[in-house]
Order: sequence, then C-alpha cells, then structure tokens
Amino acid sequence: MAPGTLTELAGETKLNSKFVRDEDERPKVAYNEFSTEIPVISLAGIDDVGEKRGEICRQIVEACENWGVFQVVDHGMDTSLVADMTRLARDFFALPPEEKLKFDMSGGKKGGFIVSSHLQGESVQDWREIVTYFSYPVRNRDYSRWPTKPEGWVKVTEEYSERLMGLACKLLEVLSEAMGLEKEALTNACVDMDQKIVVNYYPKCPQPDLTLGLKRHTDPGTITLLLQDQVGGLQATRDGGKTWITVQPVEGAFVVNLGDHGHYLSNGRFKNADHQAVVNSNSSRLSIATFQNPAPEATVYPLKVREGEKPILEEPITFAEMYKRKMSRDLELARLKKLAK
Ligand code: SIN
Ligand code: FE2
Repeated sequence: MAPGTLTELAGETKLNSKFVRDEDERPKVAYNEFSTEIPVISLAGIDDVGEKRGEICRQIVEACENWGVFQVVDHGMDTSLVADMTRLARDFFALPPEEKLKFDMSGGKKGGFIVSSHLQGESVQDWREIVTYFSYPVRNRDYSRWPTKPEGWVKVTEEYSERLMGLACKLLEVLSEAMGLEKEALTNACVDMDQKIVVNYYPKCPQPDLTLGLKRHTDPGTITLLLQDQVGGLQATRDGGKTWITVQPVEGAFVVNLGDHGHYLSNGRFKNADHQAVVNSNSSRLSIATFQNPAPEATVYPLKVREGEKPILEEPITFAEMYKRKMSRDLELARLKKLAK
C-alpha cells in the first residue's frame, strides 16, 4: 500500500482486497471468545529471597516451558505511567491522517508511523497502523523519528521504555537461573540489549473475519512485554499450533512472550510463542509491544545443552543472520503459497 492511513478504508462497508487473507489464515476464534488458560502470574515478592520468590520463579518457568506466553500482574510498573502511555498513544492515532503522516517511516526510515505488515513485501497486508520507537541502546535513539504529538509523549515514552527494560531484565534473570546459569546470563548473551517499542492500533474493520490485524508469527527476539487494552484480539496456539485461543485481557497486566532468541538460547526448553492479532467491527484496539532483542552481532546458540540433548542449532550465528534467515524463509513460504494458488 502506498503511504497512507487506514482511516478512509475503515469507513468502507467492504474490506479492501489488499487485506483479504486466504481462508486457511483467517481467524478461527472470535476476538472476544476469551480463554483463561494462559497463566496469570503475580510478581509480588519476586525481589525477596526465600520461598515466595521460588514459587514465582517456578510459575514463570512452567509457563515458558508449556506456552512461551504468560501474563504478569503486580509487576511494579507505575500505573499512572502506563495510563499516560496508553492515553497518548490513542490520541496520536486519533490525529488526522496528514498529522500522522508527518512521522511517516516508509522508505526505510528508522522509526515513526506506518501502515505496517509483519513481512514487508508480502502481497496481503495486516490491518494495523503502528508507531515504532528504537529506544535502546540510547545511542541509537533518533529523536527526529519520535512523534512530538501529542505533547508529552516523548518524555512518557522515555520513562516507559526505561522501566520496561528493568522488568524484562528481571524476568530474564529468573529464566537464566532456571537454566542453572548465573542471573545475568541471558542479558549478557544479548551483548548490548536492543529495545524497540511498537505501538499497534487496529481500527474497527468492516469485515474482520476475512483478515488479521497481525499475521501469525513468533517474535524474533529474546522476550516481549505487551500491554493490551480490554478489547481482546491477541491469540496464541496450543496443541502444537493446531488450536487457537484468544488471550483474556487482564487490566494492568503485561503479556510476556518468549521469542526465537530466548527459545534457541534455552535449547528449545522455553517455547517461542506462536501468536497473531485479530480485529473486529465493534471497536478499535490498542496494544503496545516492547521487544527486548539482542544486539545484531550477538551470538545465537544454546547457552546450556542438558545431558542427553543435542544443540538445536548446527552452529553459532549472529542475531542479524538469524533474523535474515527467518525473514527470507517466511517470504519464501509466502511466495510458494502464492504460486500454488
Ligand atoms: C504483537 O505480536 O506484536 C502484537 C500482538 C497484539 O497486538 O496483540
Ligand atoms: Fe508478536
């Protein structure tokens, strides 16, 4: 799609054909048919020593082994900071198209606004608008790409990104210890951890059964912290990818997804969450994904291989190479699918 917004298309009665997915990719479960299967874990007491911390860690590890996705509450994030971040994000997407397009990131710019698909270059588009911030390492911040509207969003985003970096590192400590490694092992394996924030806005959709807000995927990085509103739309799989469930939104919770990097470093012990986002015709939806990724030059290889197991990767590769291979594999699959039609 040429640079633009979804504003006009959202008002039409028929879905623009660019968004119509093949039948096998369309939603199988409704956006509001919630499942409570994904564990919701309270982090209250995670900083203490002793039994309480042990119990929280056990729940996190179990969720990573079974699902690769869980929700956390009592995480210590300032509720007014989270509310500000959400309010400002909503206000941005409510701006007139020409205002949003002042931050247009098409043409390879690093950060800003775009109507985005998971795989660039794919023929079918996702039904979402995004704003992306490259927030860590701090030296990579290009403030000229951070939307200055609504007023105050830059400051709130800085604070939000710093606090979430802390929460992510805490969760990675738990997973490192569970692997029998020192606390900092996973963070150190990221070398100089990258953080990217993607604010997703899914407008009301005229024919939501024909499309997806965000196509099925696994996140490439180490761990993702997702804040979602109460509308619903995030879906995960179980039974080896055969059954879809819609994650029940929990007020104030963060959904935590393990990504490919986390999966490989644990030698497959922790699952990389297979997920997608569906849309609806009743209300728009907002989610804010904070991706914690290794540096491009960081090595991707299991940190520990348990007795009797084989490494799931043939050789160490860089994260940049891992990402490149993942994208070209996904594009090739999309190409073959198109040819077979
Ligand atoms: C994501 O996978 O990055 C976002 C999913 C969602 O909006 O629920
Ligand atoms: Fe994702």
